[in-house]
Amino acid sequence: MSVRSLLTLGLAALPAVLGSPLEARAAAAKTTTVTASASTVTVTASASTVTVTASGSACGSITSAPSSSHTTSTSVNTNPTTTETATQTIGFNKAAKSLSPKRYFGTAADIPGTGENQDPYYMAELNNTKDFGQLTPANIMKWYATEPEQGVFNYTGGNDFLALAEANGQIVRCHNLVWYNQLPYWLTNPTTNWTAATLTAVMENHITNLIEYWGDRCYAWDVVNEALNDDGSWRETIFYEVIGPSYFDIAYKTAQAAVKAKGLKVKLYYNDYNIEYPGNKSTAAQNLVKGLQSQKIKIDGVGLQSHFIIGETPSQATQESNMAAFTGLGVDVAVTELDVRSPNLPPTAAQETQQKADYQSTVGACANTQRCVGVTVWDFDDTYSWIPSTFPGQGYGDLFFQPGGPDTPLVKKVAADGVIAGWESGT
Ligand code: XIL
Repeated sequence: MSVRSLLTLGLAALPAVLGSPLEARAAAAKTTTVTASASTVTVTASASTVTVTASGSACGSITSAPSSSHTTSTSVNTNPTTTETATQTIGFNKAAKSLSPKRYFGTAADIPGTGENQDPYYMAELNNTKDFGQLTPANIMKWYATEPEQGVFNYTGGNDFLALAEANGQIVRCHNLVWYNQLPYWLTNPTTNWTAATLTAVMENHITNLIEYWGDRCYAWDVVNEALNDDGSWRETIFYEVIGPSYFDIAYKTAQAAVKAKGLKVKLYYNDYNIEYPGNKSTAAQNLVKGLQSQKIKIDGVGLQSHFIIGETPSQATQESNMAAFTGLGVDVAVTELDVRSPNLPPTAAQETQQKADYQSTVGACANTQRCVGVTVWDFDDTYSWIPSTFPGQGYGDLFFQPGGPDTPLVKKVAADGVIAGWESGT
């Protein structure tokens, strides 16, 4: 792929960032009645109405007014007709903390500045530290947001995100420093003639500035995100095209220098997808780690994104042996962006059951891997998931959904029991 087409890619990502949560809110439910209890809940849905009835005693009822006919992938008719809901109440993070060594369970959140932080039901769950002990900003620390003009940094959104997490005592994985996507236009503008020297200086400045500014408020930084193609070759990003493969080592060297200059503890990660199972890409990622290590450049961990599809998730044994290949190099691993989407909507009852098994196998693999430090889901509520806009026709990938749409109660899917079972299976 040419540099020019890559540049367009970076730009094209922006409308998706800005648009989807607003659309989700615009897609507020049609007539919706929700009655819930602590025990088994059955959800029935049709294209225009949703009714949730409880088998036990009712404890709440919410009716939302009909809204516009505008529909998106979050509209109610993509929900399953019958949903078995979760029964486990211990909490995802509490279960993670009970292992030895302790792990965390966390979530990405696309705030501030999107619909999520205006949804009281979403926010109540995000602030529920029994479930979430760690947060990742889904967008607000990316390059387009943090350095919108060359050399002019905007920390406001990142600071707000950190403040929210810190108020809850949740740790933050900061995401990310160098990625080919969601770059500011000043960087991707095809008329700018970057040289290896000028782009290296820009990259070094970006990395140094953010690591030093946020310091140990970040538990970890994803220094480089998605440097590889699926066959294990270098992805032809602007950094690769202009600087060459050495951009990778330079990025980590720069990060290491910032950590040293400020005496920080922040962990430096490489993060990618399709490296959750053995294969060319996982091997290539291991070689990246070895390459840094052979030059005595700091790398503390590898993030396994884990964007899976129901029924196509690698087995727990496969994920464990893959994790072992990384931890055997002396680095931590973390599951950084877990979701398990349905390839069709609505999902079938069998797919919902399989989704539970799939969540369990990834969390179970982490539980059985001493140096797997934790699991992060890439948001926990289908209403705000990135999946429908990225994979049209697919969805239902998260642990909760809102049968009534935004601003209505969350329903915890049976998949959530898979998370608890996964932690509890840890040896
Ligand atoms: C996604 C966000 O969730 C979306 O809101 C945005 O439009 C595109 O990026 N891998 C990553 C994440 O490392 O940064 C991506 O996040 C999802 C895939």
